[in-house]
Amino acid sequence: MIRLGVLASGGGTNLQAILDACAGRGPASRIDAAVAVVLSNVPGAGALGRAERAGVPAELLPSKGVEREAYDVALVERLRHHGVDLVCLAGYMRLVSAGFLEAFGPVPSSHGCPRVMNIHPGLLPSFPGLHAQRQALQYGVRLAGCTVHFVDAGCDTGPIIAQAAVPVHPGDGEESLSARILAEEHRLYPQAIQWFAQGRLSLAGRIVTLRGARDPETAALRSPPHER
Ligand code: GRF
Repeated sequence: MIRLGVLASGGGTNLQAILDACAGRGPASRIDAAVAVVLSNVPGAGALGRAERAGVPAELLPSKGVEREAYDVALVERLRHHGVDLVCLAGYMRLVSAGFLEAFGPVPSSHGCPRVMNIHPGLLPSFPGLHAQRQALQYGVRLAGCTVHFVDAGCDTGPIIAQAAVPVHPGDGEESLSARILAEEHRLYPQAIQWFAQGRLSLAGRIVTLRGARDPETAALRSPPHER
């Protein structure tokens, strides 16, 4: 059982998927993890309410006007206070600093993997940054999707753990495509966390390996059959 620290700035549907998977509820199967604390930089963020309703410690650390390094020192202190093993960014709208990544860098049990994950609503390296779904539509892609990756010092540039692809349908708008991707996010993120909790992920260079995967497809976590 690993202890998760979830950082969120928004509504927290990915947090909810993680909370549900920890409890063995919802579409993702149970994971060997517990959310130890939810931290947000945005007053009134929906994620804080979701944490409180789940009986999980929820803490607001306003970031407005606070210098990045100093802010991250406070974040690290709270995460360590709650004994967090893995930090999950879930709709967190800030870059984390080098000091933060150092505090949650690899440890012997993480097989070279950093201990900070993020989920991005795009098939990286395509469409990093904000509005990935809108970027994909404007580019005219036929496949969009989401990526769970370890966080490095860049913006959405860390080593990729898993991806899921969804088709872009004729007439799709940002809302309909985002909803289709979000459903995959809610399945993919808990899965990636579980692989970390099981100690099955290792990192060499920028390549993540999933030990015991039946075949490369398993690691790629193809779209569900009905979406192929
Ligand atoms: C999600 O698409 C996530 O990939 C992105 O922010 C969106 C909202 O996430 N980072 P949530 O509903 O707040 O979890």
